[in-house]
Amino acid sequence: MRIDVFTLFPEWFEWFSGQHHVRNAIEHGAELRFFHYRETTPLTGGQVDDAPYGGGAGMVLRVDVVDAALRRAYEAEGASPRVILLTPGGRRLDDALARELVAEPHISLLSGRYEGVDERVRERLADDAVSIGPYVLSGGELAAMVVVDTVIRKLPGALGHADSAVEESFSEALEGAPEYPHYTRPAVYRGWKVPDVLLSGDHERVRRWRAEQARRRAR
Ligand SMILES: C[S@@+](CC[C@H](N)C(=O)[O-])C[C@H]1O[C@@H](n2cnc3c(N)ncnc32)[C@H](O)[C@@H]1O
Repeated sequence: MRIDVFTLFPEWFEWFSGQHHVRNAIEHGAELRFFHYRETTPLTGGQVDDAPYGGGAGMVLRVDVVDAALRRAYEAEGASPRVILLTPGGRRLDDALARELVAEPHISLLSGRYEGVDERVRERLADDAVSIGPYVLSGGELAAMVVVDTVIRKLPGALGHADSAVEESFSEALEGAPEYPHYTRPAVYRGWKVPDVLLSGDHERVRRWRAEQARRRAR
């Protein structure tokens, strides 16, 4: 799978790209690339934004700047990724959407800044608009990291244990429920005991208990 992120702050992703599971996914064939709007802007002096028509506070990322970045990235090689605008008002990211995205061979995430992005990006250039939650971040970079992290951990080789991403909160395996609770040693700490069933060695009882706990949390 290939994931491209368009941003005004590619340096934000240096730390993220170095994380263990991200490097693992890359070693197993995933590609993660970053594109700087300013490097391909058709405007002089590295300009990327402009004042909003109709007035109002803040600056708006220009459609010609985003279009130029996409064209420069894809036109020569004829690539046609699923282009996703990151915006607070987009489709809410959940596990189902993450599964949908991980099935794509190639996605591009457009990070906005300032007051937002010219609406023609959403209307004409993007295939989809995604939000990571009902709140406003200063820019799309953190949102892009959230999307990439959610997707990448579903790729083969990203996690140390392949099963970790199969049976976890909101997965199909748990019928969309939050995950059941986990415990580890010590079995008793300050009088706080681990549930007996987990120490029983009876795998079927453990499986049933976990399923019930997940259902209870969902309720
Ligand atoms: C300050 S925000 C713009 C907010 C916009 N004026 C509004 O009220 O919806 C700048 C950029 O951050 C990103 N962003 C902020 N919150 C987000 C969220 N919850 N999900 C996805 N992207 C977000 C978007 O790319 C957005 O263009």
